[in-house]
Amino acid sequence: MKDHLEHLFCGSTDIYPTDTQFQPKSIPWSSYELIGQIQKNEIYLDPTIIAEVKDGLWNDLCSEYDAENFCNYLKNANIKLSNDFKAFEHVWRRDEFNHYLGFRRIYSLLYDIPEDYLIKEVERRPVNFEPIQFMLEDEFKICLLIAYDEIATTKNYASEYEFYNSFGPSNLLRWIKNVTRDEAYHFNNSMELIGKNFRNRIPEIPELVDHFIDWDLHGEAYHGTFVLDHDGPYFTSEVLNMCGNTIKNYFSRR
Ligand SMILES: [Fe+2]
Ligand SMILES: [Fe+2]
Repeated sequence: MKDHLEHLFCGSTDIYPTDTQFQPKSIPWSSYELIGQIQKNEIYLDPTIIAEVKDGLWNDLCSEYDAENFCNYLKNANIKLSNDFKAFEHVWRRDEFNHYLGFRRIYSLLYDIPEDYLIKEVERRPVNFEPIQFMLEDEFKICLLIAYDEIATTKNYASEYEFYNSFGPSNLLRWIKNVTRDEAYHFNNSMELIGKNFRNRIPEIPELVDHFIDWDLHGEAYHGTFVLDHDGPYFTSEVLNMCGNTIKNYFSRR
């Protein structure tokens, strides 16, 4: 299954070189192996709660899938990307697709919707990178925007452990913890890439990060771009600024 994932979603090693100096931190695993066997009758969640969390779960499912859109955008946008970045992108893309598969399975179970139907629904949503293009002009900005997104996602998923623990087999809690660990690694990998290859641009970080936060709070609606999708109730100004501060302080701590 792991080899299958590598082959299907991450391209060849020509596209994603693996012999780079930069070794992204990553642990391969499979959502299907962990939660693929769970059946509907093992889920004991109140129907009111199931209805309440529907929109949030759908947003999570879509955002995870949208890493595919992000990678395809980068591929076609003619932005110069280093081999270090591509090594990071390789494991990142694999992880995000694995997260998508997990959310798809959970959503299918909770709402009795076949996964084949969900695939069509996810893929038919409009994708538009144009409004955020100026935040993705070069590799440094791309790394920073991914880092911002990943730290916000890490905090959000970590806040949901209790929910995942409450409604069924213990593998669901294991699953969200694995996902959260991956997101933390993604944040770390992007920041380490910046530290390795863009030291001279660290002074630009605070202003750019404030701009990302402003966009999340007041910018345009989300259109399948993976990044800047923080419009759920969890993402208050306070939370987003906490994420921003983690990034701003990252290099002063080392
Ligand atoms: Fe993810
Ligand atoms: Fe991630």
